[in-house]
Amino acid sequence: MDMRDRATRIAVVGAGYMGGGMAQVFAMSGYSCVLADADAPTAEAARERLVREAEDFEAQGLFPPGSASAIGSGLSAAESIEEAVAGADYIAEVVPERSDIKADVLARICASCGADAVIASNTSAIPIESLAAHVTRPERFLGVHWMNPAPFVPGVELIPSTSTSPEVLDSAETLIAGLGKIPVRVADQTGFIANRLQYALFQEASRMVEEGLATPRQVDEVVSNSFGFRLPFFGPFAIADMAGLDVYAGGYASFAAAYGDRFAVPRMLTDRVAAGDHGLKTGGGFTGMDASRAAEIIAYRNRAYAALAQLKTDLGKVPGAED
Ligand SMILES: NC(=O)c1ccc[n+]([C@@H]2O[C@H](COP(=O)([O-])OP(=O)(O)OC[C@H]3O[C@@H](n4cnc5c(N)ncnc54)[C@H](O)[C@@H]3O)[C@@H](O)[C@H]2O)c1
Repeated sequence: MDMRDRATRIAVVGAGYMGGGMAQVFAMSGYSCVLADADAPTAEAARERLVREAEDFEAQGLFPPGSASAIGSGLSAAESIEEAVAGADYIAEVVPERSDIKADVLARICASCGADAVIASNTSAIPIESLAAHVTRPERFLGVHWMNPAPFVPGVELIPSTSTSPEVLDSAETLIAGLGKIPVRVADQTGFIANRLQYALFQEASRMVEEGLATPRQVDEVVSNSFGFRLPFFGPFAIADMAGLDVYAGGYASFAAAYGDRFAVPRMLTDRVAAGDHGLKTGGGFTGMDASRAAEIIAYRNRAYAALAQLKTDLGKVPGAED
């Protein structure tokens, strides 16, 4: 079925924090969405919570007018997983991040859903290949990893296993893009792209705190106002290209000396610098930056950062972190 068709029936299995937010997005976009949870009262309580929360979000201007009513009419609560998935075309598995629970729930979904229903796991880090072992007809199974909070963060990772059919990947991408999200196809690896990087950052941040070199608040203050301030616009490769790859290579010499192998200079960086590619200033770099457009790129960057600085001033500090 064409996943842009609003007749596509959605089931969300696991109506907690992420599943609930995803269900709101589906219903706001005009899909009918059935919620299932560990039992019927939990699913019904989730439905009521999600409608109340949508009313609140709409009143705050966070959801467009009419959203709460669309969510009220689009969401229903099922008696069981089996009932929820029986008529569904697209099933989101959003139960807790435990392989045993996911294996059990995926097997129950497969036992009751239609042969052509697409099944999408929201796992944060478990390789899709290992979950696919619990799915019958694994060609209709993939990872569709939403970020927290689901209604507001645009990026969604799409992760095929070696069995996922190209048609299923295409239809999931169409569905997610049609919700106004930004789907990105990524390789199946533990933590995919987003969490592998996010957990690496947390690892190094924790190390500094454990070594007594910074408090968690100091780390957060520096991250969100320095290099993290760039991240809404540029990823690590564009940032390196703009900073200068020769500068990065020089920086790594100090890191490798201080921290050893975990900060060894990446081979792909050394190779580029040796070939005379220093990023934006020479043209090229990891993201293929065009040196002849450097002035435009820098002007965009400056506008973006000035606008973000203004937004942060307007919003004020995070409540509770004022001092
Ligand atoms: N919280 C996040 O920031 C975040 C972000 C991205 C992805 N994820 C992933 O999304 C998934 C869900 O996380 P969450 O934060 O929404 O968890 P959650 O605990 O808020 O929700 C899980 C829901 O599953 C239900 N559940 C538990 N066992 C069940 C079963 N056997 N059958 C049916 N329902 C069952 C729970 O009652 C609960 O409502 C996990 O895989 C998690 O890693 C979480």
